[in-house]
Amino acid sequence: MKNNIKIDNHLKKVLIIGANGFLGSNILQFRNEKEVLNNHLFLIASDLNNDNIQENIPFYNIDITKNKEIIKKIINISPDIILLTAAMTDVDQCEIDKKFATKINVEGPKNVIKACEKSNSKLVFLSTDFIFDGIKENGGYTEDDVPNPLSHYGKTKYEAELAIINSGIDYLICRSAVLYGWNKSKLNFITWILNKLKQNEKISMVTNQINSPTFVRNLAQILLKLIEKDARGIYHTVGDCILNRYEMAVKCAEIFKYKSDLIEPINYFKQIAVRPKNAGLDISKLKNTIGPDFKIFDLNDGLNYMKEHPYD
Ligand SMILES: NC(=O)c1ccc[n+]([C@@H]2O[C@H](COP(=O)([O-])OP(=O)(O)OC[C@H]3O[C@@H](n4cnc5c(N)ncnc54)[C@H](OP(=O)(O)O)[C@@H]3O)[C@@H](O)[C@H]2O)c1
Repeated sequence: MKNNIKIDNHLKKVLIIGANGFLGSNILQFRNEKEVLNNHLFLIASDLNNDNIQENIPFYNIDITKNKEIIKKIINISPDIILLTAAMTDVDQCEIDKKFATKINVEGPKNVIKACEKSNSKLVFLSTDFIFDGIKENGGYTEDDVPNPLSHYGKTKYEAELAIINSGIDYLICRSAVLYGWNKSKLNFITWILNKLKQNEKISMVTNQINSPTFVRNLAQILLKLIEKDARGIYHTVGDCILNRYEMAVKCAEIFKYKSDLIEPINYFKQIAVRPKNAGLDISKLKNTIGPDFKIFDLNDGLNYMKEHPYD
């Protein structure tokens, strides 16, 4: 056990980089839940700023694009595990500003890899379903399918995956998709739909973009479980469902008792970055590792949880 931060010797230090973001802040919500952390993990937060992070949580300012600084800071923290959620996540903005996207999503992880080598830390990296081209016809993509990203965002995330795989460090790559849940700072796909339907506004939704929507709180628990089990390699960590965007919107209307006839099915929507058509992910490997007692949420489960916990 590494000891630069004074904690119980039996605990493993998990440094979350990107702790202020949607997923990072949801992982931090479990910091006092001993059962979820299995009395085994100690969470430390870092990001560009600590806007949403409570004062009693150990916090470090870390910018992953700053090579020398990040190595020094990480050697000082000496984490057992680095959970890298920080990224440029706006898919269209990545297409517009490719250079900046590459700096954050490729050069950033490469700096973190170097830091992991120096501090002997395991890297848990968040990737995306957008590394696939979406032309698979039957079922979701498995971890053995070959990526072929269409967008610059997808390309940067895949390049980071390859850098990690080829580095020789201990790693876990978790590919996720369409994160949703209540979020005070930013709308996500599902909360955007709920807002529109609540205000009785008409929306158009494509029927030919298919993904596996993932309830962010459930993903946070899945990641902590995989860390606890010391899982390695690549895992698809998404919700237990494969739906097109129109079907997702109809589910929102059904569960929240809004009018589903406000939702118009369409087959074309102009977007800056090209999206894969069928990016559903197969989670058999995750289910085998995590076991039958752990509930992986489908969209019904996530929406019902949101309805029952309006401010979570
Ligand atoms: N959201 C999704 O639907 C989705 C789907 C598939 C995969 N993923 C992956 O899941 C991960 C988490 O996504 P998320 O939705 O939680 O993202 P997010 O809410 O955008 O959070 C990312 C965090 O990283 C921070 N950050 C940006 N640049 C940084 C830098 N140079 N150094 C340190 N921190 C930096 C951001 O700070 P600022 O806000 O101040 O920039 C933000 O707090 C990402 O790796 C993403 O690619 C997300």
